[in-house]
Amino acid sequence: MKKPPLGILISGHGSNLQAIIDAIETGFLSAKIACVVSNKKEAYGLKRAEKHRIPTHVIRHQDYPSREAFEKALIQVFDPYKIELVILAGFMRVLTPQFIRHYPHRIMNIHPALLPSFPGVEAIQQAYDYGVKVTGVTVHLIDEGTDTGPIILQTTVPLKPDDTLESLTERVHAVEHKLYPQAIQLFAEERLEIQGRKVLIKDS
Ligand code: GRF
Repeated sequence: MKKPPLGILISGHGSNLQAIIDAIETGFLSAKIACVVSNKKEAYGLKRAEKHRIPTHVIRHQDYPSREAFEKALIQVFDPYKIELVILAGFMRVLTPQFIRHYPHRIMNIHPALLPSFPGVEAIQQAYDYGVKVTGVTVHLIDEGTDTGPIILQTTVPLKPDDTLESLTERVHAVEHKLYPQAIQLFAEERLEIQGRKVLIKDS
């Protein structure tokens, strides 16, 4: 099976990056991480990538006069790798339409809640504070809104009566680490068909 080259964007801890690395190494995921780019030089995810000899790049957004200039630099790094899919893995910058149009339906994000509930930052805490009985994880394609793109996969995470924010966070992350490689594998198998807002999964 062909292995689409992934360009992974991170800003921090990189546990989802690690889950993708592990899924490739165990043979569950048929893809190749072409490079990892961080907008923060201290992001721990960079160390994870280096440990697996994955090329890394730091592109600090504050070194550029505008979002567009920053994203142009991202594209310049990605282009030589012939990136087929951009993976946002805890990347804490909003992308402009210019970048999104450069990779139409080719940018995936993971969100730690059941979209369209609790978009934006601190989603696990938003759901916890709201008092929901069920939350979850969403993998979706990026469109020009915030966490509004077509949904690829979702999984629920029920709350337990004695959950703390920490215990819930741990379970949500564990689900993320399974769901993201699954969604990327569907892309690799060319099984995602986008019809407007809907993502059909072929042969499922
Ligand atoms: C994850 O919870 C992800 O859903 C959100 O940012 C967090 C990144 O965590 N978009 P990590 O850097 O992958 O550990």
